[in-house]
Amino acid sequence: MPEQPRGELVIQTIAMPKDTNPNGDIFGGWLTSQMDLGSGILAAKTAQARVVTVAMEGMSFLQPVRVGDTVRCYARVERIGRTSMTIPVEVWVTRHMTAEDHRVTHGVFTLVAVDEKGKPIPVRRNQPRIDTN
Ligand SMILES: CC(C)(COP(=O)(O)OP(=O)(O)OC[C@H]1O[C@@H](n2cnc3c(N)ncnc32)[C@H](O)[C@@H]1OP(=O)(O)O)[C@@H](O)C(=O)NCCC(=O)NCCS
Repeated sequence: MPEQPRGELVIQTIAMPKDTNPNGDIFGGWLTSQMDLGSGILAAKTAQARVVTVAMEGMSFLQPVRVGDTVRCYARVERIGRTSMTIPVEVWVTRHMTAEDHRVTHGVFTLVAVDEKGKPIPVRRNQPRIDTN
């Protein structure tokens, strides 16, 4: 059975020419920012609070992303600590024209729930849903 994305879809967008490097491929930094945004969406929903990214680990760029590809970020809450959440993120693309799906990047983001002054606060335990698939 082919590999499937793990987690919930948090971002879907299209890779644009402005996001390329001189080789014409998409910058890793652009992709990382999409993953950061996506993990932030899930973390804020989970904590029902403002969140900040404290760490990004294990980033692997497996295949290039090309202009026109549909880019999808999938995120899941792997662990909830006192104030932090560990959120693995996978990026998949659907190739422009051929419609082939590929997992292109993955990484693990740690986000912390904070108050209005940026001080860590406990993650609420009444989060609506944690996706564990
Ligand atoms: C995130 C931040 C509020 C944490 O403040 P702090 O004083 O270090 O707080 P703590 O030491 O209590 O750590 C808070 C939680 O983060 C975790 N944490 C801290 N540094 C970590 C790291 N490098 N990796 C993983 N987890 C980390 C701690 O284990 C703790 O988790 P827990 O409460 O679930 O046990 C602070 O470091 C900060 O504001 N960083 C900048 C965030 C930011 O601007 N992000 C965007 C970057 S452009």
